[in-house]
Amino acid sequence: MRKIQFFDTTLRDGEQTPGVNFNTNEKVQIALQLEKWGIDTIEAGFPIASPGDFEAVQAIAKVATKMTVAGLARCQKKDIDRAYEALKDAKHSQLHVFLATSDVHMKYKLKMTREEVLDSIKEHVSYGKERFDKVQFSPEDATRTDKEFLLKAVQTAIDAGATIINVPDTVGYSNPTEYGALFAYLIENIQSEEEIIFSSHCHDDLGMATANALAAIENGAKRVEGAINGIGERAGNTALEEVAVALHIRKDFYECESNIVLSETKRTSDIVARLSGFAVPKNKAVIGGNAYAHESGIHQDGVLKNPETYEIITPQLVGVHTNSLPLGKLSGRHAFVTKMAELGYELSEEEVKNLFKKFKELADKKKQITDEDLIALQADEVRRSEETYKLKTVQLQYVSNGYQGAVVSIEDDNQEVHTASAIGAGSIQAIYNSIDQIFNQQPRLVDYEITALTSGEDAQAEVHVSIECEATKERINGIGVDFDVLQASAEAYTQASAILKEKGERK
Ligand code: KIV
Ligand code: ZN
Repeated sequence: MRKIQFFDTTLRDGEQTPGVNFNTNEKVQIALQLEKWGIDTIEAGFPIASPGDFEAVQAIAKVATKMTVAGLARCQKKDIDRAYEALKDAKHSQLHVFLATSDVHMKYKLKMTREEVLDSIKEHVSYGKERFDKVQFSPEDATRTDKEFLLKAVQTAIDAGATIINVPDTVGYSNPTEYGALFAYLIENIQSEEEIIFSSHCHDDLGMATANALAAIENGAKRVEGAINGIGERAGNTALEEVAVALHIRKDFYECESNIVLSETKRTSDIVARLSGFAVPKNKAVIGGNAYAHESGIHQDGVLKNPETYEIITPQLVGVHTNSLPLGKLSGRHAFVTKMAELGYELSEEEVKNLFKKFKELADKKKQITDEDLIALQADEVRRSEETYKLKTVQLQYVSNGYQGAVVSIEDDNQEVHTASAIGAGSIQAIYNSIDQIFNQQPRLVDYEITALTSGEDAQAEVHVSIECEATKERINGIGVDFDVLQASAEAYTQASAILKEKGERK
């Protein structure tokens, strides 16, 4: 069995998904879950891109214990210095430096000749190698690069000290036959005394990102890059959960293994979906809501007789709990604790006390408490414990001509309660205007989305907001979950406003 390393770029390429912005707290939560999932290397961000990216890479470098933390850099010394600064507290760190090698990129984007590109690779990989033990080089747009020149660029990077070569299909142009052959060609033709790890990095523009990654593995790649739920620039990246499960289910064919803990897959996907605000399509492979549902009578009959007739992946393998009985108003503490343990939560006495109280409050309003409700309840509790500002009360009153008045109270970390009232052309605007008064700031609301956590009229609402600071143009996300849509909306906006305030105070 060959060991395949998993490199996760959810927080870097994944965050390049239009509309996705994680704050540092959210990035740390995702990183810790990725570590549990068994990721070998996490690309925590692009440190020179923004102060927020730098801060997040630094925060992840401090908390990661097992996985290597990587930072992205262009072929520029200031990028490499910034990555070094951000990663200096990491137990295991890695630099990821890239430069485009295709004719179209060199001519129009970089305005550099082939010789200049080779010189830059040599100079910057060597500069990186003086600061990092592990340097990965990516020839951007590799799959549209002239093959002989690609080999020269890769060899230059290896000679300058790179030990990991990532081969990006930057625009999702390749197909499995071609992409696999490219790995075979490079592996066959490079010269190196040291072992060189080849890595795939695919985009899904033609819907072939997972197939291409698997073709690379078949042809000698020992590392796969991608993002959870396949998020990423344009059509997204290789969905790492698909590769992990494909390698497991088709071990007979690929003869590979990895460090991925498959039973943590659904939880990892859920946290990324929740914090990115990008719901997983129902028909998505491996983790979609319908991936384990059987609709046709013939299929249902077959599955009842023997699941293997139509199920190649069991839901349990990836941590999907299908046949679990929902809890309700009459469920006791024991049933609650057992169910939480089934979902993978080891709770302290104190946590059980708090969560069970919240569970009972929810059960008073909602007939059936599903796994999704419990996962959201737990996530909400973790989030609240980290919050410095806590929403206490929201009151609304109809004014006239469609206007609403709101009175909002928020407690700060010194337990001082701040109250403000405002009117607005609708309930949400009135609430948000009041919150703006409390924080004494006026961000622009750039995104507001509500989703129902489960089906049914009594589903809890999950609200995502994204606000933008007028001065810095920095975007901050907030999430709120509640049975009441207005309460969830207020929670989400309070969370984002508090982060914005704290960032402003730190500057
Ligand atoms: O798609 C790409 O080329 C990239 C590189 C930075 C590796 O994301
Ligand atoms: Zn990419």
